[in-house]
Amino acid sequence: MGLTRRPPVRRRLRSIPMKGQPLTEPLWEYIVSTFAEEDALLRAMVEEAKAAAIPLIHIAPEQGKFLQVLMKLVSAKKVLEVGSLFGYSAVWMGRALPPGGRLVTLELEAKHAAMTRTNLERAGLGPVARVVEGDARKTLPTLAGEAPFDLAFVDAAKMQYIEYFEPVLALLRPGAVLVADNASAHGEVWKSDPIPERAAGARAMNARMAEDPRLTSLLVPIGDGMCVGVLTAGG
Ligand SMILES: C[S@@+](CC[C@H](N)C(=O)[O-])C[C@H]1O[C@@H](n2cnc3c(N)ncnc32)[C@H](O)[C@@H]1O
Repeated sequence: MGLTRRPPVRRRLRSIPMKGQPLTEPLWEYIVSTFAEEDALLRAMVEEAKAAAIPLIHIAPEQGKFLQVLMKLVSAKKVLEVGSLFGYSAVWMGRALPPGGRLVTLELEAKHAAMTRTNLERAGLGPVARVVEGDARKTLPTLAGEAPFDLAFVDAAKMQYIEYFEPVLALLRPGAVLVADNASAHGEVWKSDPIPERAAGARAMNARMAEDPRLTSLLVPIGDGMCVGVLTAGG
């Protein structure tokens, strides 16, 4: 499990030029306006969450679209989410479900769970979605009867990611996708120890996903970073 302890990798990579194109605001605007524009409902959901003093820590629209692309890649019929907030990512994912699809989203806070239920109803996803209220560490093991899922999106408490990892993997089918949000930890995940506390959870999850032989994974620098892994062998 060396990756967690290794120093920043830049000096190991010195001979490799970085080929990535830094995301600028105009490029981001182009991407969102071309591929991932929010509709009136999504915009209203954000405004209402703000008015209700719910923190606006939902994913960015291009991440919602990226989740839809991943769902389509694996023909996802059943999707699991850990961390609903007010249902923003759940609505994006619910909209990419085929007829007969299912979305199960787990949320600790009663206020957040209630708002997610309301928003899923408004999106016409009430009949296909289920909001499970409670601590995901307790509710994940109760979902075996609804498994296997085709995609899981983990976006709850960052320091708990590692605790969700095995229970989530146990609910996925071979070939399913696991996505963990905030994999960049506000751009701080690469920093040398002592690493900011908020980045520690993300780094541990990234290392786990990078090293676990059951997964083929990569941190994709979209939004605050999404670590995407494909379950290549039985979970
Ligand atoms: C970053 S927000 C989720 C954002 C949402 N996925 C979106 O993009 O629209 C994290 C949510 O996870 C919830 N949460 C934190 N710890 C949790 C736990 N142990 N079990 C279930 N939900 C949890 C929080 O209450 C919060 O609503």
